[in-house]
Amino acid sequence: MTISIHTKACAANEILPLLPAQIKPSYPTLPAHEHERFRLDPIAVGSTLCPGNQTEAIFQVVGHILLPSQGILAHASLCPLLKAKKALEDARSQSFQLIKEGFSLAWITLSDKGALGKREDTAGPLIAEILGATLPICHSQGFLLPDEAIELRSQLTYLALTERYDIICTSGGTGLTARDITPETTERLLDRKLPGFVQAMMAKSLEKTPRAILSRACAGVIGESLVLNLPGSAKAVRENLEAILPALDHTLKKLHNDPSDCGA
Ligand code: MTE
Repeated sequence: MTISIHTKACAANEILPLLPAQIKPSYPTLPAHEHERFRLDPIAVGSTLCPGNQTEAIFQVVGHILLPSQGILAHASLCPLLKAKKALEDARSQSFQLIKEGFSLAWITLSDKGALGKREDTAGPLIAEILGATLPICHSQGFLLPDEAIELRSQLTYLALTERYDIICTSGGTGLTARDITPETTERLLDRKLPGFVQAMMAKSLEKTPRAILSRACAGVIGESLVLNLPGSAKAVRENLEAILPALDHTLKKLHNDPSDCGA
């Protein structure tokens, strides 16, 4: 897919909203016909924009913002947030190819103490480290939430159905205290369940500690996102991920409708 954009000079790593030209001409802008095409059809995070005949990406989509209706734009629209992968020196109009290579990863740490800044989140970054060592991760992003069902529901839905992350891992809140709401909140949102993931993680975990029996984690699919509940400690995250890593690449390919035979 190609997309034409009027880009402005910017620094490497700058994050820029891709706004319709009518709104804010000091940012990169989309011509009206392109804006109409993407108005409420977000681009999957992790996608890159490569100039017409080149392979080197200039921008990567790292999120979206909701732009309220204003002026001649009658409807709210979702605008991609672009991260500049290199500096641009001058303004120009150019056409880009939209390419998605590798998998995008979001992790959500559920922790009341963490959300209040009273506990450092070591489990979330470890998820990114472990998955990044095994899979071609093109973009990863962490989120820190209190153990609140409404916040988790909203975040899971947004990350899966709007941002279209390939993998969403939660960490924490799978146990038995009154504040542990992760599995039941996740399960209600799943389009399809993946009990094999849960069984593999439990089997491996019970080899490490009998306390693994306490985990109520679930796994499944929302839209085209693979969603996995993991426990809250870094040790438990590592042990659980070890159980499912060998099957992840194949799972993600099938989730994206890879038609090849599963024989191997
Ligand atoms: N799984 C593994 N592999 N290793 C562990 O140390 N801890 C268990 C369990 N699963 C553990 C594990 C414990 S003690 C609890 S209470 C539950 O995960 C739930 O943890 P959470 O509430 O942090 O999600």
